[in-house]
Amino acid sequence: MKTNPAFPATRMRRMRRDDFSRRLMREHELSANDLIYPVFVLPGPGQRQTVASMPGVERVSLDLLYGVAEQALELGVPALALFPVIEAAKKSEQAEEAWNPEGLVPTVVAGLKQRFPELGVITDVALDPYTSHGQDGLIDATGYVMNDETLEALAKQARCHADAGADVVAPSDMMDGRVARIRAELDAGGHILTRILAYSAKYASSYYGPFRDAVGSAGNLGGGNKYTYQMDPANTDEALREVALDIAEGADMFMVKPGMPYLDIVRRVKSELQVPTFVYQVSGEYAMLKAAGANGWIDEKACALEALVCFKRAGADGILTYFALDAARWLKASA
Ligand code: PBG
Repeated sequence: MKTNPAFPATRMRRMRRDDFSRRLMREHELSANDLIYPVFVLPGPGQRQTVASMPGVERVSLDLLYGVAEQALELGVPALALFPVIEAAKKSEQAEEAWNPEGLVPTVVAGLKQRFPELGVITDVALDPYTSHGQDGLIDATGYVMNDETLEALAKQARCHADAGADVVAPSDMMDGRVARIRAELDAGGHILTRILAYSAKYASSYYGPFRDAVGSAGNLGGGNKYTYQMDPANTDEALREVALDIAEGADMFMVKPGMPYLDIVRRVKSELQVPTFVYQVSGEYAMLKAAGANGWIDEKACALEALVCFKRAGADGILTYFALDAARWLKASA
């Protein structure tokens, strides 16, 4: 038998023997500071709905969202990301509702910022909640999502959110050149300090299914897909190019989405580009953990916290997760 020459002098298990030395050598730690809580908002008042494929997640109107925002602040979660549920009657081909200053998102942003000025408010910039066809951009007669025409709509949408007081606008549409176009529009409007969280490496993922149920865009999209703008899950280098372009266009933060199957992308972005790197643990990932947990097949809390610390290990500075409030509570209870 060939023996390891380092053995027995080197014993890896020595440091693992006790809690104190395990804690000392721990490289990464999850804290509430790392978390962003996504919320689905409804027109109000007094509206609260569950989402069947996302147990524990509710869609709420602004008056009820105040309580959620208060909990986030109490738990030390720095920011909320807003996703609107737009009534069918307000959806259209051209998505005009997306930049209505009296629309749902600007109303909710203004309400939250007025009550909780210290809470970070992030808005999603993409047209899918507003289009009758469910695509993230404007389409031509063949159904193709037109890039440059969509940029103009996104610029108006981002400007409308910033005017309402959004701290961060987060383009999740994957059009080419949108970060530069949005940056120019924000600057022209005097919003030079409004941050851009770019969904730089957003993949055409099947893990978004429950989200599309939650915002009610699945039906609109029908059998359609987003392959002409979201990335192919088989690609890596393309993600690095996307992030590099968004750096050049002036984005402040860079998102990889989805999360757990894409940890290699998170690691490469962080190691090769050294930028503020974010990851989105998407609805399908949440649904899987919830479903297996509810069946008693896995320990939901332990598996969720493990997934979250693994995002940190992979290089994420921040994590968008439907577990944000639960995770912050679990961390607090074990502190
Ligand atoms: C669309 C958008 C999607 C998600 C966030 N913004 C889905 C899509 O591209 O259809 C998915 C988030 C999730 O699954 O949790 N702009």
